[in-house]
Amino acid sequence: MESDDKKRWNEGAESWVEFVRSGKNYYSEYLNGPALKRMIGDVEGKKVLDMGCGEGYFSRFFTKAGAEVTGIDLSEALIKAAVEEEERDPLGVKYFAADAANLNMLESESFDLTFCYMALMDIRNYEGAISEASRVLKTGGKFVVLMEHPCFTMFRVLDGKVVSGWETRLREDGSKEYIYYWIADYLRRHSYTFEWKHDRLPSSFVTTGFHRTLFDYVNALTKHGLVVTGLDEPQPLEEGVRVHASMKKHYRVPQSMVIEATKITR
Ligand SMILES: C[S@@+](CC[C@H](N)C(=O)[O-])C[C@H]1O[C@@H](n2cnc3c(N)ncnc32)[C@H](O)[C@@H]1O
Repeated sequence: MESDDKKRWNEGAESWVEFVRSGKNYYSEYLNGPALKRMIGDVEGKKVLDMGCGEGYFSRFFTKAGAEVTGIDLSEALIKAAVEEEERDPLGVKYFAADAANLNMLESESFDLTFCYMALMDIRNYEGAISEASRVLKTGGKFVVLMEHPCFTMFRVLDGKVVSGWETRLREDGSKEYIYYWIADYLRRHSYTFEWKHDRLPSSFVTTGFHRTLFDYVNALTKHGLVVTGLDEPQPLEEGVRVHASMKKHYRVPQSMVIEATKITR
């Protein structure tokens, strides 16, 4: 039976593809994309796995930067969109529809770099995915994860209540003031339904998010022979804040976190 996670991403695929390709994903453009590229650095001649590649945006980017890229994603609809783009403009990216926790089509110790961009908090079996990221890496290879910051997850619902978010108020001129970030519950692990609904999306859809702690992620990496060798809590580019003033709040509280872990053993 098709899992709910897959069904939800398949149903949201059309809207997601349009969102990514329209250039309206300004968090990716001015905050998270630059942070991912900074952490990954030069990929020339490297074999790279894009885990949770979606419609292939970063698979294409790193292929153009000189890497040999394989992209995997749970959603067949998103992989179909990625393959169609590859057919329209061939770059040599290979795509597979697969659960990140079971990548048996990929050989062990065959990649220099695995990255997972804004997907690990959406992956149900995150430990399985981390184990697979480690398995396919060569010793000394890097696993770079950019994810929503687990300490400051937005729109997280537990027992029917939102348990974290920005306290805001409207100024006299009608603009929104972000006063402080509050959190009511951090240590309880849970899944929740996330509604993708804003004016930059052609239509709304829902997906499943998983709240885990920073400890859970770092512990799982270590358990699978991946040692943290880099960390970032990125801030938006100045240019982004000029165009989207609401991003200024991330000079105070990060939206995301980037971890670089190096495979030492297995
Ligand atoms: C927020 S999207 C990010 C997609 C892509 N990295 C991007 O930036 O466009 C999260 C992605 O995680 C994928 N995903 C969720 N669960 C997964 C799993 N178990 N295995 C692989 N991919 C999964 C979804 O299908 C979706 O494409």
